[in-house]
Parts: sequence; C-alpha cells; structure tokens
Amino acid sequence: MKTMIVICIFLLSHVTQSLANDIDPATDSQNLKKFFQDRFPNIPFDQYIYGALAYSKDAKSQYDSIMEFPPFEQEIDKGKLLWGTPFQNGKSFKDCFPNGGFGEAAKYPKYDKSTDQVITFEMMINNCLVSNGEKPFTYDDTNTMGLVTAYAKKLSDGLLMKVVISSVGAEKKYFNGRQLFFKRIGQLNLSCASCHITNAGNYFRDELISPAIGHTTHFPVFRGGEFLFTLHMRYRRCMEAMRAKPFPAGSIQLNELEFFHSYLSNGLPLEASVYRK
Ligand code: HEC
Repeated sequence: MKTMIVICIFLLSHVTQSLANDIDPATDSQNLKKFFQDRFPNIPFDQYIYGALAYSKDAKSQYDSIMEFPPFEQEIDKGKLLWGTPFQNGKSFKDCFPNGGFGEAAKYPKYDKSTDQVITFEMMINNCLVSNGEKPFTYDDTNTMGLVTAYAKKLSDGLLMKVVISSVGAEKKYFNGRQLFFKRIGQLNLSCASCHITNAGNYFRDELISPAIGHTTHFPVFRGGEFLFTLHMRYRRCMEAMRAKPFPAGSIQLNELEFFHSYLSNGLPLEASVYRK
C-alpha cells in the first residue's frame, strides 16, 4: 500500500527531466544543488555526505555512535592485508599507485581520452592485478574487490570529490550517465531521479530516501554494520527494487552512471567504508 502511495506521488511530481541541449555539466549540477537547497534550506551542503541520515536526527545520532567503534573494522583490516599481500612476482597493489595509494581513489572516476572511457578506481585495481600477471577480481566480489577497496578508498578520506570534465568526450560520458539516472526503467516505471531527486526526504516503504548529491562519497558501505556493498552493488540493488534488469557491476553503463553521479558530489569530502542501514 505504501508503495502505491509513493508511486502516486511520483506521478504528480515534476522532475526536471528535460534538458536544453546547450546546458553544460557545471550548470546542470549547480541547478540540481539549487533544487535541493531550495527544497531543504536547513541542510547545509556538507551534510549531504550523510545521505538519508541528513533527514533524521535520530538516525544520524545512531550512525554517530556506531561509527565510534565500527563493527566492521576487522573487515577493513582484511582489506589492508589484501592490499599489502605480495603477488606471485613479489609486487603488491602499493607498487601500482603513487604514494602507496594515499589520495589515489580520490582521482576516480576519471575520463580517459586515449580509450574514450570512464576509468573507475576498481578498474585500476584490476589493471594492477593483470599487469602483474594476476587474475582480475570480479567487480561485485565482496571478499576481494569489496575488501580491498574498503581499505584502499579510505586512503583518500578527507579529500574532496573532484571529478574533472574538461573535454567533449568527458561531457558525453556525463550525459550518458545522466540519461540513465533520469530514464524510467523496469516494471515500476521509475527512474533513479524519481526517488533520489523528486522524492528525497520522503519514504519508500519504511526507508527515508537520500538525495542524489553525496551518494558516491562514502562507498563501499557496510549495510547493517556487516554486509559490504560496493557502489555498483548498491546501483544494482536499486535497479532490482525498480523491477528492472540491473546492469552488471563494472559495466560501461554503471561506470558512466558513476561518472555523472560522482560529479554531482564535487566539493564534498570523501569518507569510505561507513555504516548504512
Ligand atoms: C523506489 C525508489 C528508488 C529508486 C527508483 C532508486 N532508489 Fe536508490 N535507494 C532507495 C532507497 C529506499 C535507498 C536506501 C535509503 C537511502 O539511502 O536512500 C536507496 C539507496 C541508494 C544509494 C545509497 C545511498 C547511501 O547513502 O548509501 C544509492 C547510491 C542509490 N540508492 C542509487 C540509486 C540509483 C543510481 C538508482 C537508479 C538506478 C536508484 N538508486 C533508484 C530507493 C530508490
């Protein structure tokens, strides 16, 4: 019944889906920021890293107390071990990244002109494996890709999200991702924007819906304090909720979605491996 109510709200709502062809990513994301500022004037921009928690004092204080002694600290330690474990050739992940990986995750996702593709941090992890003669990880394997990024992304905690769009090619990727975010898919005929823009702050079933801005700053997350979810796994979970066939983790579609989605969070501080419900 609640689902029905939410869907009715969707139908009534006005999402700024249509887009003038000449709009650029900077203006587009500023417009979205302004939309949220007007709608939630009491939520400062830096609070968007907390997702739906920004809309509930109780949930936020519960989060704060969980994050004092995160129940998933051991998992992050496992990731650290994986990061430092030598490959067959004696090298390790550290050797693939400058500064032992400090600040590296903050450089992704980025657009690579020579291959005309979006490169995610997870792709760099796999490039590292392959160039050292190892097998790549599966993108949604929580025991490998999940754990290693749960640690390696923390090496960028505190840095600001800074996705660069400075070429026509990169702009195209932004708009590909944007198109997927606004496209109504699945049996429920919803788009990501239906929930995470139009209905941010409202409930879907018994869950408060987070705003699109801030989403990509804190992955992977530990849902319920124990289940590791990468960003692409989260995308897939929402696509299932939309009763759509989810794209695979690590696919071009989800990489481009991540590129658009991350650009929206430019200027927000990163903090990987946090608690989520
Ligand atoms: C029917 C509503 C609905 C739709 C449509 C939907 N989501 Fe979600 N999404 C949720 C709910 C509910 C949650 C869990 C509460 C929250 O954090 O918003 C969530 C969580 C998320 C999160 C994690 C937020 C965090 O702070 O950890 C991300 C990222 C996300 N969704 C992305 C997407 C993307 C991308 C799409 C489109 C493919 C999408 N969602 C479509 C309802 C929806």
